[in-house]
Amino acid sequence: MTAPPIAQTAPLSSQSDIDAEIAFAHARAAAAETQPQLAFPAYRSSVLRHPTKDLRHADPEGAELFAPVFGHTDIDPLEADLTVQHGGEPIGERIRVSGRVLDGDGRPVRNQLVEIWQANAAGRYIHKRDQHPAPIDPNFTGVGRCLTDSNGGYSFVTIKPGPYPWRNHRNAWRPAHIHFSLFGTDFTQRMITQMYFPSDPLFALDPIYQAITDQNARDRLVAKYAHDVSEHEWLLGYRWDIVLTGSHRTAMESEDDDE
Ligand SMILES: [Fe+2]
Repeated sequence: MTAPPIAQTAPLSSQSDIDAEIAFAHARAAAAETQPQLAFPAYRSSVLRHPTKDLRHADPEGAELFAPVFGHTDIDPLEADLTVQHGGEPIGERIRVSGRVLDGDGRPVRNQLVEIWQANAAGRYIHKRDQHPAPIDPNFTGVGRCLTDSNGGYSFVTIKPGPYPWRNHRNAWRPAHIHFSLFGTDFTQRMITQMYFPSDPLFALDPIYQAITDQNARDRLVAKYAHDVSEHEWLLGYRWDIVLTGSHRTAMESEDDDE
């Protein structure tokens, strides 16, 4: 199988160019590659900004002298509700996303700082680089955090984010997603990933999602609708667990990824 040519003017590549590149990368991938390929040509910017050298090994204790820290009293429970951060209700579909953070043996990871950020219901971030013509919601910032409880559980109330365009190729759209950061027990352990929503028609087209070549690993990034999490006349519920290690580990991405 010959690699399809990569267009030099990346923004002008078509979706069918991208589809061909994704299919080629998947055909060449080893079985059960459960983490994203760092240099995935269909995800244009990954080729230039992925690490090409061995990671710099930091002395964990030395890093802790300068790294951000947090205390349990620093996090207000209200920070887990992204719908109450302003004077009014944000527009969109109110949802709760709940789940557990687990280690590879299924044990709960307690007191874990979980941070999320996301677009609003119209698919717009409050960020100077996001200038696409969708409305900013004055009642929605799209940032929240919480600590996992004694069962490893986390829970956020938020607005379902919309899909949004990006400049990877012509007519490129990201599936709706919520970015998650797990702080770990110290700063050098931070992990970042994205959670998606079930049955999104954009999954097959998205080179970030498809940079994970194993279907089961991709599926693990998709939350499930959970009616027991839904609340009567108030919100719809989703459940999504995060596994930090082992063969069912949640796929994580490099900290440079910001789409
Ligand atoms: Fe995003």
